[in-house]
Formats: sequence, C-alpha cells, structure tokens
Amino acid sequence: MENLQEIPAPLLAWYDRHARILPWREQPTPYRVWVSEIMLQQTRVEAVKPYFERFIGELPTIRDLAEAPEDRLLKLWEGLGYYNRVRNMQKAARQLVSGYGGEMPQDFDAILALPGIGSYTAGAIASIAFGMRRPAVDGNVLRVLSRLEKSYDDILKQSVRRRFEEELLQVIPEERAGDFNQSLIELGAIVCVPNGAPKCPECPLKEVCRAHADGVELELPKKTPPKKRKMEDRTVLVLVSDNKAGLHKRPEKGLLAGLYELPNLPGRLNREEVLEFVKKQGLSPLRIQKLPAAKHIFSHIEWHMTGYAVKVEEPPAFWENGGTEPEGREIQKAPAQEEIFFVEKEQMEKNYSIPAAFGAYTQYFKERY
Ligand code: ADE
Ligand code: SF4
Repeated sequence: MENLQEIPAPLLAWYDRHARILPWREQPTPYRVWVSEIMLQQTRVEAVKPYFERFIGELPTIRDLAEAPEDRLLKLWEGLGYYNRVRNMQKAARQLVSGYGGEMPQDFDAILALPGIGSYTAGAIASIAFGMRRPAVDGNVLRVLSRLEKSYDDILKQSVRRRFEEELLQVIPEERAGDFNQSLIELGAIVCVPNGAPKCPECPLKEVCRAHADGVELELPKKTPPKKRKMEDRTVLVLVSDNKAGLHKRPEKGLLAGLYELPNLPGRLNREEVLEFVKKQGLSPLRIQKLPAAKHIFSHIEWHMTGYAVKVEEPPAFWENGGTEPEGREIQKAPAQEEIFFVEKEQMEKNYSIPAAFGAYTQYFKERY
C-alpha cells in the first residue's frame, strides 16, 4: 500500500522520543534478542523483564543454553508456559554449537531454519541484532498495519501476514531496520493498543492512517474466532507425607510433556474414589480433605479441577527420588507401576518445574496436614 511509504520518518522520530528502556534493547546481541523475542511471544513486557534477566544471568551464552540440564532450563522457564519453546531453543542452541561455533550466523535463511524460529523471530534477530532489512511481523504489527491500511483481511491467515511482510520489505530503511521494526511493535504496544480504544490523538501516524481517517479503527483488525476449547474434568491430589510432597512425571509426549506435576486423574472423583486410587498406589492414607475447585486454560483445552489434600503414611524408602530425579544422579528406581514419587517440599520448590496449571494446588503444600 502506497501510504506505507510515509511511515518510516514519523515513526522513527516518535520511537526516538518514546521507546521504553528495556533490558534486551541494551546490547541487542543475537542471543539476547532471540531469548527476549521468544519470551515476549507469550507474556507481557513487564512480566518478561525478570525472567529475561534471570535467564541471561544463568545462561549468558548460546553455548551455556546448549549445555544446560533440561530441568534447570524448565525451572528458568517456569511460569512462562509453552515449555516447548525453551526446549526448541535448546535444540537450536545445540545446532548453533555444532554447526556455527556457538554463534548465531548472520544469514537470514540459516536463522529461519533453526527449531522454534519462524519468520517473525528470524526477522527480529536479523534486523535488531544484525541490522538486516527484514520485516518482523508479530501480532502488534498485524494490528497496526490492518488499521493503517484499513484492511479487513483475516490477520490469522498466513497469506495476510506474508503480504504485510512483502509490503514492509519495500519501506524498511537501510540504516535503521531494527529500530523501524521495533518502532512498529512499540506503537502497537503503547499507542495502537488492542482491547480498547487506540490512542489516535497521540499517534505519529494519525495523518497516514486510513482506519482513523474513516473512524473505523475499533473494527480492526479482523480475526476468525478461534476454535472452541475442549473442557476436561480432572481431580488433582496434594499428597503429603511429613515434609514430603508426592509428584509424578508426565509422559514425554503431549500436553506439558516431560514436566513434573501433582498426581491427577481424569474426572471428578469423590473421596472414596480418591482413597481407592491412593491405596492402589501402595500408599496408606491417613487423612483426606477436599480443596476448592480451580480452572486452568490452555490453548486448546480447559481443565476444571477438583482437588484433595491427602496425608499419607511415610512411603517406602525406595520411592524417594523414584526414577525421576533431575540432574541424572544415580538413583534406585521405584517399581514401574509406582509412578508417584516423594521429594522434600523444599526440593520440589527449588528443583522441580511444576506447570502453572497446578498453581492453585501447590500452595497447599505450605500448609500443615
Ligand atoms: N514485543 C515483541 N517484541 C518486542 C520488543 N522487541 N520490544 C518490546 N516489545 C516487544
Ligand atoms: Fe492506530 Fe489510531 Fe495510529 Fe491508526 S491513528 S495507527 S488506529 S493509533
């Protein structure tokens, strides 16, 4: 669209005055840009800051990321969700170590070929860290461009994103490609905002914007409604034995793959059914208490949870660390059917990454049962 030619100058002038000071904008190395962009795909800027600092502090180089034990990695990601993203980052880091001496190559196609890196992230790294003229079109940019162009196309369609990418490629300034991309993202984050009215009076592009000219900015962007989520009832157990908590490792495939969790079962079980299950695990329940219901929303599924705190007798010694201790220490394996194992509550908090889905129940380990 021809009006895009007019955006770089006012947008960059605005960015110079209004850009937020953010940790990843200082020393925008390829690694820092990469880590921040992956985190920002799922979480608000304010929430990302401490995660970013901690991640970079503990794993300061691509090589450190490649070599990090998986449990350490998941712990650093705990609370951000979408754990496959950090797993893919590690895969990519290993490829960078084996193929590129542990550095991000200054080559767009090579960056794009890495696991977990799509056209947005590759464009962000290429432009922000290397100054290459590549677009970086995320949700913010899709919203801004839809409004600027008064486009009613569905922004969830790949074809629409590609068209915007091609149009941007025509106008990205040679000398400030990274700043230009970040200025579009920034405008979408603080001026041309989602959910609620964009702040058009303070927008540097208000004279160029076609949606604003026609007063239709609130109608845009257009998205097809996402598919309905599946609802699932689950019963979650807070298993306590003295100072220990009962945990379970999830299967290596599927939802929350390979993470630790509180033992849980499909359905909405009553006390008797829970006690029966606990005994079937070879445990001796001493006390059971119903906990408040909780809900967790994943992208395609919604868990409606019922919870029980169950105090059990000291489990047999061989159960502790039963086969699933992180850090790969030599351990005695629990019998195969005994998938639940017990760890000190303190150890659980320090070393085990338990998905946010269980957040409503992990807090009960702090109480006395
Ligand atoms: N959201 C996605 N990328 C961003 C960036 N580089 N700065 C601020 N917010 C962002
Ligand atoms: Fe968004 Fe309003 Fe600026 Fe248009 S004028 S880009 S709708 S903030």
